[in-house]
Amino acid sequence: MCVDLVNGKTNVYGIIGNPVEKSFSPVLQNTIAKELGKSAAYVPFKVERGQVKTAVEGARALGIKGFNVTVPHKIEVMDALCAIDPVAKRIGAVNTLKLTEKGYEGYNTDIIGLKKCFEERNISIEGKTVVLAGAGGAANSAAMLAGEEKAAKLVIVNRTAEKAEALAERVRKYYPIEVEVTDYDSITDIADPEIFVQTTSVGMGNDVDGTPVKKTEFFDNVKIVVDIIYTPWETRLMKDAAARGAVTVNGFDMLFYQGLASFEIWHDMKVDRETAKELKEKLTAFYRRG
Ligand code: ATR
Repeated sequence: MCVDLVNGKTNVYGIIGNPVEKSFSPVLQNTIAKELGKSAAYVPFKVERGQVKTAVEGARALGIKGFNVTVPHKIEVMDALCAIDPVAKRIGAVNTLKLTEKGYEGYNTDIIGLKKCFEERNISIEGKTVVLAGAGGAANSAAMLAGEEKAAKLVIVNRTAEKAEALAERVRKYYPIEVEVTDYDSITDIADPEIFVQTTSVGMGNDVDGTPVKKTEFFDNVKIVVDIIYTPWETRLMKDAAARGAVTVNGFDMLFYQGLASFEIWHDMKVDRETAKELKEKLTAFYRRG
C-alpha cells in the first residue's frame, strides 16, 4: 500500500516537550489532517530544558511549519519567537508556534480549547461567577478566559493562598472583573457559582478517590464543571458534581479543541462546528479504545 498524504510537498509540524512519548497530539493532529485532506505530518520532538531556543532556530532553518509546545517549555519558548499574541502574553505561556517569514509567532490555544467546552454546550460565561480550583500553570488560561469573556466575578480557590493571590493580581491588571481568592473550606460560601473549572492535579491517574472539593454540596448551584483531567475519564470530582445535577466535561474536550485551534492557525482556516464535533467523537472513540 502506498502512503497517499506524505509526499515531496508535505508540510511538517510537531510537538516540543519533555516527556512527549505519551502525548496524544500526534494522533490528534495527523487524524485531523487526514480527515480534512491536508498533506501534513506531525511528529513528537523531545527537547531538553535550556535547548528550546536552539531547537526552534533549527526548526526554522528546516522550514517546519508549526509546533505545539507542552510541559515544561511553554514559558521558555517565549524567548525564541518573533511575535507573541497579546492573550498568550497575558496568560504568560505559549502552546502554539506558526512559522512566518520573520520567525515563529506564538499563540495560546489552551484558552480557546477551554472556551470551546462552553461554546459547544451553548453556555455563556458573560455575567457569571466563575470558580477556579488551582493556581498553577493550567489555571492561567482559565483565569484569563474569565476576563476575556467578561465574567461578573472570578473566584480562585487554592491550597496555597499566595499563588492564588498572585494569579488574581495578574487578572485584575488586565481585566475589569471582580476577582477574589478563597480556600476549599470556604468554597460553599461562594454565591451563585455557576461555572467551575478544575485545574489541579488532584484526582489524576491512580488518585481516583482524590478531589480538591470535599464539600460536595457546593455543586448544588453549579451548572457546569470542566475538569482538565481526562485520566481517569470521569474523576471523583466529576462524579460528585454530576450527582448534584451539574453538567460535567472532562479535559479531553479541551485537549481536542486546543489542538483543532492550533490546526486552524497553521492552515489559516476555520473548521465548522459539525465537522469539529465529528472529529472529536472519532478521536474520543479512538482514545478510549486505548
Ligand atoms: P499545572 O501546571 O498542571 O497547573 P502546577 O503548576 O504544579 O501544575 O499546579 C498544580 C496545582 O494543583 C496547584 O494549584 C496546586 O496547589 P498549590 O498551589 O497549593 O500547590 C494544586 N494541587 C496539587 N496538589 C494538591 C492537593 N493535594 N490539594 C490541593 N491542591 C493541590
